[in-house]
Amino acid sequence: MEKKFEPLFTPWKIGNVEIKNRVVVCPMGGTSLFGWMEPHHFDKDAAAFFMDIAKNNAGLIIPGIAPLRNLMGGAWLYKANGAFRKLKTYMEEFHKTGAKLFVQLTAGFGRSFSVPNKFVPMLKNKFLGKLVKPIFDIQYLCASPSELPSRWAEGCTCRQITVKEIHKMINAFAKTALKCKEAGVDGVEIHAVHEGYLLDQFCTEYTNHRDDEYGGSFENRFRFATDVVKAIKAACGEDYPVSLRYSVVSKTKGFCEGAMPGEEYKEVGRNMEESEKAIKYLEEAGYDMFDADNGTYDAWYWAHPPAYMPTNCNLEDVAHIRKFTNAPVVCAGRMDPATAAKAIFG
Ligand SMILES: Cc1cc2nc3c(=O)[nH]c(=O)nc-3n(C[C@H](O)[C@H](O)[C@H](O)COP(=O)(O)O)c2cc1C
Repeated sequence: MEKKFEPLFTPWKIGNVEIKNRVVVCPMGGTSLFGWMEPHHFDKDAAAFFMDIAKNNAGLIIPGIAPLRNLMGGAWLYKANGAFRKLKTYMEEFHKTGAKLFVQLTAGFGRSFSVPNKFVPMLKNKFLGKLVKPIFDIQYLCASPSELPSRWAEGCTCRQITVKEIHKMINAFAKTALKCKEAGVDGVEIHAVHEGYLLDQFCTEYTNHRDDEYGGSFENRFRFATDVVKAIKAACGEDYPVSLRYSVVSKTKGFCEGAMPGEEYKEVGRNMEESEKAIKYLEEAGYDMFDADNGTYDAWYWAHPPAYMPTNCNLEDVAHIRKFTNAPVVCAGRMDPATAAKAIFG
């Protein structure tokens, strides 16, 4: 191996969990270990895919988002006892590779939910929404911190989520994380103060206009995200690792308007100054790792950069934010291995 790549094969730690190298497989939706639509499902194909990657020497694997509640029918994941039994058997085999695995649990999408065309009338019309609710609760799936325009369904408004619904989600995060721990999963990742998903919508001022304990001040906007980690630590113990998917800067000019690399613009989401404060605050609340990038769904190309984005497009901002936390920080986004290796001890 060329000397310049050696840093990529050095170990590191998330809390007490040692990861054998710096190769982190970031989550990709479509590869959830539980699927999204089938209740009480363990996805053998996704599991085989990740076993293969683990055998090829990845250090940490984070499969694609697992919704706390099934999108179809709304069954809570923590009640899927059969799926967790299969996961436990899988983890025993998986650990023989020396790799570690975190399950990424999502609070959901809020206004970023990509509404299937057929369901647009049900989102627009409350009565039609109620009719399909037992199968596909579109109003709940799109529920946002405040009444907000849907990112995708033109002319549709997403309703405000209730405090009772928030508390149910926090409780479900804790219960599901405990199931993961009992199944031998090495840690969980919370999705996400990242990319304009529901938790992120709470954190940014342009999407959170609430006047209760979950809106307004910095502490209130970050309360949902901090409540989640505190509830997980209370259920699983302080030493069970909890990572946060985190976008350093929102790179957002307004609804459906993203900023380009190098562009001068006025940030409506999280700017660097707030991010420096936020990452410390989130670490103090209990997060053990930050899996970082940039962007929101209004500036979606930062978080899943296509070929026209520069290589290592998020590295400068992620390297900067690393100075404000003692927790390990992972960087995603068109990383080239030589630059990644240089950044590790840089
Ligand atoms: C198809 C696709 C699905 C993704 N799904 C998720 C996801 O479920 N959770 C998440 O946090 N990030 C998700 N991402 C973002 C990736 O984890 C990663 O940050 C992004 O692809 C940038 O890294 P890359 O340039 O190495 O691919 C997804 C990206 C793609 C392309």
